[in-house]
Amino acid sequence: VKVLVTDPMDAAALARLRSAGHELVEHRGVQGAELAAALAGCQALLVRGATKVTAEVLRLAPDLRVVVRAGTGLDNVDLDAARARDVAVHNTPAANAISVAELVFGLLIALERHLVPASADLKRGHWEKTRYQGRDLAGRTLGLLGFGRIGREVAVRARAFAMTVRAADPLLPAWPPEFGWVQRGDIETLLPEVDVLSLHLPLTPATRGLIGARELARMRPDAVVVNCARGGVVDEEALLRALRSGALRGAALDVFAVEPPGPHPLLELPNVIATPHLGASTADAQARAGLEAADILIDTLARITA
Ligand code: MLT
Repeated sequence: VKVLVTDPMDAAALARLRSAGHELVEHRGVQGAELAAALAGCQALLVRGATKVTAEVLRLAPDLRVVVRAGTGLDNVDLDAARARDVAVHNTPAANAISVAELVFGLLIALERHLVPASADLKRGHWEKTRYQGRDLAGRTLGLLGFGRIGREVAVRARAFAMTVRAADPLLPAWPPEFGWVQRGDIETLLPEVDVLSLHLPLTPATRGLIGARELARMRPDAVVVNCARGGVVDEEALLRALRSGALRGAALDVFAVEPPGPHPLLELPNVIATPHLGASTADAQARAGLEAADILIDTLARITA
């Protein structure tokens, strides 16, 4: 079967698909009509997050039967349009969880210990030991908004840092029994009680702008927000106002409503640390996501072409 690959993909994953007998057509970075044209004759599409599988693309690609997203978020695929056209869509939700959870702590510690400016100062020859006094994580309360795979990996690491962990997840049908030590709440009770709010929700119409001016105003002024989920879950204007006014002490952001964000005012604030959507950017995560995606594709194609 012809499989179109439009985003960078782990080499071992591509090799696995080839050895299963599939023909790979590689067109990096195509979007819109160009993507639809590249899909001619292809029954499968393998992407990461950059390729936008819109309703229009789906309409113009009649041969397409399955889309596999190597990674977690499916906000780059129009799921309703895919369902209407009977195109199967799969992701690899387990592959990135550890990598994102590790980045949450990398960013949080970097924010709380001023690692980025302290390192930059030292490299310029300034030994600023007292200026960069930070804060411990131990004894502080972490609030997780979203308690799926990533939220749970964050909780496990927070426990090792001796933090109190609270979580709210409006989408979770049943609380995982092994996480009885995590205090369950709802978003309204969580906000005023946490020192750190970390977001782990997908971007959907229900979660877009979920953390806005009202929610930020309910948080403690010395709290910080960590967002390694999707930029659109937070109202960036409201976040900017809260950070500028001192209503919120800091933010660690790996994601933005528009990526790349360009010269964004949030990036100019000293109480913001930011990275270019690096959550899944580890060799380990890419290898896991690529191989998992290849296996899903191989299975799905075996079923739909049988
Ligand atoms: C994901 O959804 O898999 C992560 O945010 C990583 C990414 O999109 O690159």
